[in-house]
Amino acid sequence: MSNIKIAQKSPYTVEVNSGDKKVWCSCGHSENQPYCDGAHARKETGMKPVVCKFENSETVYFCGCKHSKNGAFCDGSHNSL
Ligand code: FES
Repeated sequence: MSNIKIAQKSPYTVEVNSGDKKVWCSCGHSENQPYCDGAHARKETGMKPVVCKFENSETVYFCGCKHSKNGAFCDGSHNSL
């Protein structure tokens, strides 16, 4: 877990559509937040992205601090960092 980089201390608000697939960056090193750009491998973080598939069109809040206990989605953990 020591290779985690805090991308930002707030979630990324994203509008998704039914059928969308998003690949969330779990390591924080991507320059295309909140999505994976392959940096986890280049920087040998030992971490992997999380694939998220959406069945509904909705607003989602991707974790920006990379410390959420709710996978790719914000759980408010950024407030205690
Ligand atoms: S760049 Fe962070 S998980 Fe791929």
